[in-house]
Amino acid sequence: MTNFKFPKDFLWGGAIAANQAEGAYLEDGKGLSIVDLLPTGEKRRSIMKGNVPALTPLETEFYPSHEAIDFYHRYPEDIALFAEMGFKALRVSIAWARIFPTGEDAQPNEAGLQFYDRLFDELLKHGIEPVVTLAHFDVPVNLIEKYGSWRSRELVSLFETYAKTVFSRYKDKVKYWMTFNEINMLLHLPFLGAGLVFKDGENVKEIQYQAAHHQLVASALAVKACHEIIPGAMIGCMLAAGSFYPYTCNPEDVFQGMEKDRESYFFIDVQSRGEYPGYAKRFFKDHELNIEMQPGDAGILKNHTVDYIGFSYYSSRTTSTDPEVVKNMTTGNVFGSVANPYLAKSEWGWTIDPKGIRITANQLHDRYQKPLFVVENGFGANDVVTPEGEVDDSYRIDYLKRHVAEMGEALQDGVEIIGYTSWGPIDIVSASSGEMRKRYGYIYVDRDNEGKGDLKRIKKKSFHWYKNVIESDGSNL
Ligand code: BG6
Repeated sequence: MTNFKFPKDFLWGGAIAANQAEGAYLEDGKGLSIVDLLPTGEKRRSIMKGNVPALTPLETEFYPSHEAIDFYHRYPEDIALFAEMGFKALRVSIAWARIFPTGEDAQPNEAGLQFYDRLFDELLKHGIEPVVTLAHFDVPVNLIEKYGSWRSRELVSLFETYAKTVFSRYKDKVKYWMTFNEINMLLHLPFLGAGLVFKDGENVKEIQYQAAHHQLVASALAVKACHEIIPGAMIGCMLAAGSFYPYTCNPEDVFQGMEKDRESYFFIDVQSRGEYPGYAKRFFKDHELNIEMQPGDAGILKNHTVDYIGFSYYSSRTTSTDPEVVKNMTTGNVFGSVANPYLAKSEWGWTIDPKGIRITANQLHDRYQKPLFVVENGFGANDVVTPEGEVDDSYRIDYLKRHVAEMGEALQDGVEIIGYTSWGPIDIVSASSGEMRKRYGYIYVDRDNEGKGDLKRIKKKSFHWYKNVIESDGSNL
């Protein structure tokens, strides 16, 4: 027990994404999404970085998103389990291609809209608040073929139409929205973040920042539409957060740490403060990046800033200017981090740093002075089912316990945090590797990396732990 209780209205819950959970990838008129083209392993990594995938799925490949954990059909059973844990919120995303199968259809797909009606109704029936991301690594494939995805300005108005459609449809059901999941991912995994593929010889950086500009304008237009269509709703941005630590107190390391943080803050500075920061303008100039902006863009960005800062936190990052130190990178971390000698790592090489969530939350709050929402945090591990059919995931409890405790410290530091939706409360497909073996859930799903298993759900030890945490307002860790 700790003495600290989280506020009564704190939004405890979990977070999933359409493409990692739903499956039913072509059902009820859904179009192909970028993630439906991602196999597993090395091929997946190469495409996520922007190498051209096969634009129609190949017979010879296994695509984990196609069935995922079949949440599309099993959501009532899964939501009942979330309710049993006492969830106050569930973060989900809408698959753009379920609503507009080609991304530019004249009319939305009614069957797709009805699915999310059923999903939100089921959540509300259990008193669970839906928290909805408009784009979680999801672009209709047709928009890649036709426009080159977010490199094209066309995407801005197509996304705006999509956003307005879902705001109008769900205005009485959804109060918490988010625009782009981990918007800064675009710089690291451009296909995953923005559906970008590159040809040899292209100026990759310029295309990435051009796509970023388009997403930033689209995000601001979604904020505008949300405020107009659903008065009282809150709409936020979403950052893949985790501060960079300088490896030493050498000012060169410290400065590099600041610059690395700014690579990510850049997006949120625009979404929350409403304008391009000076350091970004200098970066464009120094790198001779010519980013096309339309005359009205500055006004759109300025007038429609986000209401809260959503962020994921899995680990901190470390950076160094010393070539010897840089040889020792952690594996598996898309943000490229030097190994931190003070911290342990997960099996996938992700650094474990509970204090880092307090540091990151304080820094974000100091910078933006807006409510924060921790919309992802968790521990990917290979859980084992015992012959008795149980899963003892004490290591996950340990990770989450320490992070929730530090989040409580941040609240006591004066940081306003409105909720915590841990990642993958039920096992889902891993975004970075496509594996099922990398599990985050309180609920085990019987399915393996090759798609075998009967999809049965099993409560893990952490299920009972998290139920207690929520019941005790975070005081019983
Ligand atoms: C975040 C994403 O990057 O991390 C999620 O928003 C993702 O989609 C999560 O699943 C965990 O990463 P991974 O690769 O372990 O699934």
